Amino acid sequence: MPDQYGVIGNPVAHSKSPQIHAEFARQTGQDLVYEALLAPKDGFVATANAFRGRGGRGLNVTLPFKGEAFRYATALSARARAAQAVNTLRFDAGAIYGDNTDGAGLVQDLLRNLGCAIAARRLLLLGAGGAARGVIEPLLLLHPAQFVLANRTPETAQRLAQDAGGALEACSYAALTGRQFDLVVNATSASLSGELPPLPPGVFARGALAYDMMYGDVETAFLAFARGQGAARLADGLGMLVEQAAESFFVWRGLRPDSAAVLKLLRQAQHG
Ligand code: ATR
Repeated sequence: MPDQYGVIGNPVAHSKSPQIHAEFARQTGQDLVYEALLAPKDGFVATANAFRGRGGRGLNVTLPFKGEAFRYATALSARARAAQAVNTLRFDAGAIYGDNTDGAGLVQDLLRNLGCAIAARRLLLLGAGGAARGVIEPLLLLHPAQFVLANRTPETAQRLAQDAGGALEACSYAALTGRQFDLVVNATSASLSGELPPLPPGVFARGALAYDMMYGDVETAFLAFARGQGAARLADGLGMLVEQAAESFFVWRGLRPDSAAVLKLLRQAQHG
């Protein structure tokens, strides 16, 4: 019987993770199956326990359960602890190991797939929820020249900045007026509802990359805004999705799949 993995979320039917992991398994010759598990909003623990009870080896965790998965794990990686969220569970004998591969996924996508240097660049991160928290530390490690965190509720951004040891600057959207950045990453959930964070005009420096962690068949409001503002390059979160999956695959199987090949496949499907 092949080893069982899956992604747990609500909703989860739209998830591309089963397709990505099936491709990774095919590439690397690993004998595993990967399914989508829909858990009721109040049923994360019961669904995860049932999966584990029938021999499941590991789960990816998506919205809205990353915080619950953090509390469910009995052992945590340093990066999961920093993010206070878990997107990867591995069921070991006697322990539930919780990790967070989202930050590594973003960094891999930026550096390798997009060839975007971060060191000595001006970086603006939008949003101060779970998605932002998960990527702050890995981005800090790349030594941007400036690292600004803007949020609609500036107090939340200030809390995150304090947690990160004061190495980044928290502010409101209005306070960005007159400033320019080489990389602007949208980690808000605004794109989910077709909304746009209230960015002042002029934040994209010459040659800037605008990056939205969301992805879909339709361009997000943030990327459309960035295009109109003259951002030189636009990227959605599909690359991050594939790269975080590759990192989870490594946590489970100890092998690194060819993520670039899988991203290419998904891009072909996305562009029809
Ligand atoms: P996630 O886990 O996806 O980050 P979250 O923890 O609910 O979700 O956080 C959502 C983030 O998106 C927050 O930073 C939120 O801003 P507030 O802290 O001010 O609520 C931000 N957000 C959501 N909708 C937004 C909008 N229309 N404009 C700007 N920011 C928005």
